[in-house]
Amino acid sequence: MGKTYLDIVSPHCMLVVGKRGTGKSYTLGVIAEEFAKLKEKYLKRVSLILVDTMSVFHSLKKENTDQNERQIMERFDIEPECWKEKIRILVPRTAVDEAEKDDRELHYDEILKLPLSKVEVHEWLDLFDLDITEYTGTLLSQVITDLKDDREYFSFQDIYQKIEGQDAEKERKETIKNLFGMIEELGLFSERGMDEQLVEGGKITVLDISYLGRLGKYQLRNLIVSIFAREQMSKRTLHTTLEMQSQADLIDSDTVKEITEAHPIIYMLIDEAHLFLPSGEDTISSDPLIDWIKLGRHPGLSLIMATQEPSALHPTAIRQSDMIIAHNMTSKDDLDALKVAKQSYMRKGLDEMIGKMEFKRGLAMILDDKKRSLQLCRVRPRHTLHTGVDASALPPEERH
Ligand SMILES: Nc1ncnc2c1ncn2[C@@H]1O[C@H](COP(=O)(O)OP(=O)(O)OP(=O)(O)O)[C@@H](O)[C@H]1O
Ligand SMILES: [Mg+2]
Repeated sequence: MGKTYLDIVSPHCMLVVGKRGTGKSYTLGVIAEEFAKLKEKYLKRVSLILVDTMSVFHSLKKENTDQNERQIMERFDIEPECWKEKIRILVPRTAVDEAEKDDRELHYDEILKLPLSKVEVHEWLDLFDLDITEYTGTLLSQVITDLKDDREYFSFQDIYQKIEGQDAEKERKETIKNLFGMIEELGLFSERGMDEQLVEGGKITVLDISYLGRLGKYQLRNLIVSIFAREQMSKRTLHTTLEMQSQADLIDSDTVKEITEAHPIIYMLIDEAHLFLPSGEDTISSDPLIDWIKLGRHPGLSLIMATQEPSALHPTAIRQSDMIIAHNMTSKDDLDALKVAKQSYMRKGLDEMIGKMEFKRGLAMILDDKKRSLQLCRVRPRHTLHTGVDASALPPEERH
């Protein structure tokens, strides 16, 4: 049986699709493991960010002890293994508070904190569902724009003070203060953010933002992804420009080496990606992610998105993806939904392949646009534990 690998020589925009429980999150975990297994000299040039909305990736720090997987692991010659020191789990403050309240153990390394000043005016407006042409929206925009013009970093206190100083009705000022107060309480933002860099060469960072899903209509998860995507786009673009200047002998190559180490190329893996880049509507993270997809190749920004329903994902993500891992596609209609099956190299042999695709965990069809090839594969079992196990009415000892 031949092996299939993902080449990381050049950036990718990839999709992992398949219905519920077909192995999408599991496959993202396998991809993360393969990064952890890279030789140090390659890994230190890469940083992986896993956007986790279901709290399933913290177990990348644990060896695979699942008895049900033992047999298949033996067949694939996969040993239980984990790379604790390379994996970093970040959670928002609220997750820690809730776990303490429920007396529940929480697996994390650091608390995620972002610099308050990195949120753009339009993102605050979107988050609070305010319109810039409407009075409260105008006031908020004035306050934040003034602060941003004034300094690089500011605190919630600075925002409250600035609001107080505005020539506006008390009631309006209170409304905005309350909105910011609610965000402050979450402990997700501070003046300078966390000391640690979110991006670090050789590290796999899990952003476990599942806990923020409960905050009603506020798109906080999208805001986090947006801030991250924007920041990295501007850092990496600057870095690529410097690299080109150094190649043209315009600047010193040691300076570039230093910057390269501080700004590795990035792979962002997003599970449930339709939440961040949906079709038919704009979210706070839509534009920054579309920028990654369209402009990310040159600065070295890769995106791997998993979703149950390709049609729920923005069409640009589907059109621009250079590789699709499709789990357990059972009909040609499923592929037609991806609007890719119409390409001639895929039509050949497609029906035959779908016929072979009986339900087997981890079975996947890989559509590689660069190589213009279609391949049937079985994703290998994990070295680390997968926690996204389906809930079952059967007691553990009776499950097979
Ligand atoms: N390659 C594989 N080898 C062995 N078992 C697998 C493989 N892929 C998935 N599984 C099994 O299938 C189960 C479901 O996988 P997973 O949680 O990744 O599904 P999913 O597609 O992400 O589902 P959902 O859309 O509900 O999030 C896993 O708990 C695991 O036991
Ligand atoms: Mg999943």
